[in-house]
Amino acid sequence: MASLDLLGALRSNPFVLAPMAGITDSAFRTLMRRLGCGVVITELVSAHGIEFKSEKTIRLMGFEEIQRPFGVQLFGETPEIVARAAKFAEGFGADFIDLNFGCPVPKVVKKGAGSAILRDLPRVAEMFRTVKAAVSIPLTVKIRMGWDETSRNALDVAAIAYDEGLAWVAIHGRTRAQGYSGQADWDFIASVKAKSKIPILGNGDIHSASTAVRRLRESGCDGVMIGRGCLKNPWIFREAAALWAGGRYEHDRDFQGLLRDMHDLFLSRTDEKITLLQLKKFASWYSTGYPGAANFRKTIFQSQAVGETLDLALAYFADLKSVLQVDTSHEAFLMGGHG
Ligand SMILES: Cc1cc2nc3c(=O)[nH]c(=O)nc-3n(C[C@H](O)[C@H](O)[C@H](O)COP(=O)(O)O)c2cc1C
Repeated sequence: MASLDLLGALRSNPFVLAPMAGITDSAFRTLMRRLGCGVVITELVSAHGIEFKSEKTIRLMGFEEIQRPFGVQLFGETPEIVARAAKFAEGFGADFIDLNFGCPVPKVVKKGAGSAILRDLPRVAEMFRTVKAAVSIPLTVKIRMGWDETSRNALDVAAIAYDEGLAWVAIHGRTRAQGYSGQADWDFIASVKAKSKIPILGNGDIHSASTAVRRLRESGCDGVMIGRGCLKNPWIFREAAALWAGGRYEHDRDFQGLLRDMHDLFLSRTDEKITLLQLKKFASWYSTGYPGAANFRKTIFQSQAVGETLDLALAYFADLKSVLQVDTSHEAFLMGGHG
């Protein structure tokens, strides 16, 4: 994509895949695009890793054409290093650069990266300006509401982002201090949206297609980011897009097709060991809210071979195509991450 109309892409499909370390790798991003997700973003990639040409770091940016528009998310504390990494990512093929200003993990914030930057607004502006000047593709940012309850400054960050020419600000509706506890504050997200000139994406606790559409409508946001929700329901993007466009969707969850696709996708892009792990992980997440999920998880995690794992998953999901998934949004689910 020579010159990307990122906001046009968002308007035609406002449901964006949230970056998730260890999960939103290239194979998974391809899968989510096939399943109707509008825009995808890599997991956080270390600007220092790129600076030192770490093969492992650069591999995180690997992509396939179907993923476009795809963004590379960068984190780092030094504007010049992040800017050079952004230029590298642009040359690598990224359609846009996303900055991680939301990571709450001590190892990252201790160095002044991730959500730590939110405590220093002049540095926020400097980072935006330096990175923006280094690339010609769009620049976006993902933030928390603020560092803690007494410093919810997302509105100020959004104003700076607008002045510096960013394309959007995505807000995870928790403070850094909250980690993953409590509920994302969508009233706060809506109030920032109402007062901001820059497009705003809301994020946090969207566990179903109907919630995605309700959040989008009620908050007035320009898009919503969905993370953990697509680990429980991989069709959430397709279902949300259909609801948004026409008000209804067919409940047609083809687990058999999906599991076979995942198997083929991971095996052709990775190796047996990773495929085995991924199949176990995703099949057990997908079983959330279905009858017998706990037993199924126990069984599948004992399996030692890819073929056996796929067969176990195919057998478990065989009868679940038209069974309704129970709402488990009140239960703890993956309560930690890098944003
Ligand atoms: C396992 C995991 C890894 C994550 N990694 C990242 C990351 O690399 N970059 C980022 O900005 N956010 C990361 N996050 C945060 C998500 O993007 C998202 O903001 C958060 O999970 C809330 O949205 P959700 O309720 O839709 O999952 C991660 C979250 C989880 C659960």
